[in-house]
Amino acid sequence: MTETNETPARSALVTGAGSGIGRATALAFAATGARVIASDIDPARLESLNDELGEGHVTVAGDITDPATIEKLGLAAGGRVDILANVAGIMDRFLPVGEMDDALWQKVFDVNVTAPMRLMRAVLPGMVDAGEGAIVNVASAAALHGGRAGAAYTASKHALIGLTRNTAVFYGPQGIRANVIAPGPVATGIEGGMASHLAAQRMGPLLKSMLPPPTTPDVLAEQIVWLASETATNINGAVLSSDGGWAAI
Ligand SMILES: NC(=O)c1ccc[n+]([C@@H]2O[C@H](COP(=O)([O-])OP(=O)(O)OC[C@H]3O[C@@H](n4cnc5c(N)ncnc54)[C@H](O)[C@@H]3O)[C@@H](O)[C@H]2O)c1
Repeated sequence: MTETNETPARSALVTGAGSGIGRATALAFAATGARVIASDIDPARLESLNDELGEGHVTVAGDITDPATIEKLGLAAGGRVDILANVAGIMDRFLPVGEMDDALWQKVFDVNVTAPMRLMRAVLPGMVDAGEGAIVNVASAAALHGGRAGAAYTASKHALIGLTRNTAVFYGPQGIRANVIAPGPVATGIEGGMASHLAAQRMGPLLKSMLPPPTTPDVLAEQIVWLASETATNINGAVLSSDGGWAAI
């Protein structure tokens, strides 16, 4: 057996990899030479991603809110994940709290908060053993403001920031960085319609007057890859807005 000094490829687990920001992120990590573990609820989307990724990567279809999917991802990762990008997320039809239904509230929190927490919990032991690891959680401009989405999405993305900062504090000394990226509008397949008269009346004009033009998923993907890279080494517990200046308004 020939010994080489080559370091093994880093493995990057990307959720929501079937579409939009997640898909672009999976491809961007693959372009850096990382071994990608791509997950999505939609098998057909993953199949198309797989064709583009080529060999050496893994796709795992399943609902990220199902603990069995998280088990499968751990196995696919061979027990070791260097980078976790929690990208999968869903919106909430812009429902204000007075029109909230419990099932939607729960679903949004399951996908946007509980699943990222469970994935972080699953990969942290390996990262702690390795003495390094990077987590990038995709929140939203709605994580920083009250006027960007409905009540469930807004609250869930605020919660994702708290979860990420807390993780940065607990695990930073063990070499793990956990950061948030907070995108403004991005041209993706996300279901972002308004199903509320109050939302259309109150939020509609606000958004119309301030909404920046959408950027592309590739722009977000490059920034997620950068946050996970050694170049971003001193950045931990940060919230990076990528919104064309929207957060400044
Ligand atoms: N598009 C935007 O304008 C925008 C703005 C701010 C934040 N974001 C955030 O960016 C992230 C990615 O969104 P996007 O715009 O690329 O959306 P998208 O809908 O294009 O892609 C999301 C992917 O996640 C998958 N997914 C959804 N629920 C899942 C589940 N339960 N289990 C596994 N996979 C699941 C979907 O199948 C889809 O392929 C989300 O967290 C979203 O909240 C998006």
